[in-house]
Amino acid sequence: MPQPTDRVVITGAAGAIGTTLRRGLSARWSNLLLTDLRRPPNAPGTWIEADVADRAAMARIMEGAKAVIHLAGAAGTDLETLWHTNATGLFEVFEAARHAGVERIVYASSNHAHGMYPITIPVAPSMPARPDGHYGALKAYGELVLRSFHEKYGITSVSLRIGTYRDLPIDQRSLATWLSPNDMTRLAEASLLHPNPGALVVNGYSNNTRLKAARENWDFLGYHPEDDAETHREMLRAQGFDVDSPDRGIWEFNEHGGNYAPGPELPTTLK
Ligand SMILES: NC(=O)c1ccc[n+]([C@@H]2O[C@H](COP(=O)([O-])OP(=O)(O)OC[C@H]3O[C@@H](n4cnc5c(N)ncnc54)[C@H](O)[C@@H]3O)[C@@H](O)[C@H]2O)c1
Repeated sequence: MPQPTDRVVITGAAGAIGTTLRRGLSARWSNLLLTDLRRPPNAPGTWIEADVADRAAMARIMEGAKAVIHLAGAAGTDLETLWHTNATGLFEVFEAARHAGVERIVYASSNHAHGMYPITIPVAPSMPARPDGHYGALKAYGELVLRSFHEKYGITSVSLRIGTYRDLPIDQRSLATWLSPNDMTRLAEASLLHPNPGALVVNGYSNNTRLKAARENWDFLGYHPEDDAETHREMLRAQGFDVDSPDRGIWEFNEHGGNYAPGPELPTTLK
């Protein structure tokens, strides 16, 4: 199990979740190595700028690391960019980590790995993945690679099926799917510190009153979320969102993946 003085690599450290985690973890975790395509101006810490698909760079970054928090990823782009980052990049990060002897991988998976489940089913990671497109399928691929890493090499991991990570809930759906910044930090820290999570997959949501996904293995992991999107309901109502409709049995989307499920696939240059 990684100790707070061990080297922990965070990929995608310049992004929304990366910014929250490097701020939230740096007080306790003294040896963070931060990487992204670009270091944000004036960002403190030790940084290496690199593309996650760059094999040599990933090998250099993983040297001496005990744990990796893999956040770098593309969403809402085109399929070619998705493949570059979420397939090739994920492969290079995980393989470099394995060859470097990394013991723990915390992985930003997504609710889109189970996005085709009807919203009426309290979806749990122990149920078969039902991705709502290439994005969710590649997230599920990452979870499966980590399962094989555990069974073949003893590398432990926690894959987080993150819902809607934002400072605040943004719409009706996120009253169920919100993951707050403070709960994101709690989830990452529990994932680093658990003595033996195996190859755990958990849903990554706050303790939302309207949560429609299962809290499976949150207690086992030691994840105790403290935020609830419901406390922001009136803010959403003032923005014009129909925050009362669940009480009438109507929900914004029929599936857990929200607009990804009925929506078109990401654009591609393929004809
Ligand atoms: N934000 C959410 O609601 C949400 C939900 C589910 C899953 N996730 C996953 O969590 C992770 C982080 O999400 P986020 O909200 O911080 O996203 P973000 O877009 O803010 O950050 C992603 C970071 O990855 C970096 N990146 C992209 N391509 C890269 C490449 N080829 N090489 C190196 N770095 C690269 C970007 O520069 C960016 O800083 C992603 O993998 C995302 O799929 C996020």
